[in-house]
Amino acid sequence: MRPLIAGNWKMHGLAPQLDDIEAIAASVKATPPFADILICLPATLIARAVQTAAGRIAIGGENCSAEVSGAFTGDISAEMLKGAGASAVIVGHSERRQHHDETDAIVAAKAKAARRAGLLAIICVGETKSQRLAGKALSICGDQIAGSVPESMTASALAIGYEPLWAIGSGHMPTSKEIAEMHGHIRQCLVARLGTEGKDVRILYGGSVQPSNARDILSVPEVGRALVGGASLKARDFEAIIGAVPTKA
Ligand code: 13P
Repeated sequence: MRPLIAGNWKMHGLAPQLDDIEAIAASVKATPPFADILICLPATLIARAVQTAAGRIAIGGENCSAEVSGAFTGDISAEMLKGAGASAVIVGHSERRQHHDETDAIVAAKAKAARRAGLLAIICVGETKSQRLAGKALSICGDQIAGSVPESMTASALAIGYEPLWAIGSGHMPTSKEIAEMHGHIRQCLVARLGTEGKDVRILYGGSVQPSNARDILSVPEVGRALVGGASLKARDFEAIIGAVPTKA
């Protein structure tokens, strides 16, 4: 399980920001990292970013339709992302679950579409603050795994992003112990759902990962991987996070 450091630009980025992709690709070339590097972008930037990245970093989408094609104005299929040069897609990000009412069933259908198109599906799960305070964090994320991860998934086609909703963009985050506990629980849930394939699925921590805390987070047992929002928008910050991947991982 080679570590994976993934960025999620969300709804940010116009053509000039491709300079950051170029800078990250150049730094990956100069200092090969101890991890696979992926940046998930708005669909409008994917094809150009793929050219700019020149194969040094992988480029992904942030969402896809479950359908292949058809009368779904404004939607983009997994096949279209693949055709634009993407190799991965985030599905079920909490911002889509929240603002677009995406249920576990919808997320599972999108994950299946990603697999059909040959994209890595990064399925996101995470609890709210009140769910954590009520002691329900593990069961909420376990239920999301059971509902969102198709049984047919293989380890190479899937990654899980554990992103506590209250940690996203807030500067707050769970303790290392809580992250380790959750990642261990997610591992058990994946093995229960996928059998031995579940042992090798990469689980990424996401939520306020910054250059200043990346080393601590990435050295937590069962972590070693991250899904980075705000700090992936600036080449220098993202490079610092990439540089924090433990060399033994
Ligand atoms: P931040 O790193 O900005 O907290 O965002 C995390 C996230 O949502 C990545 O998908």
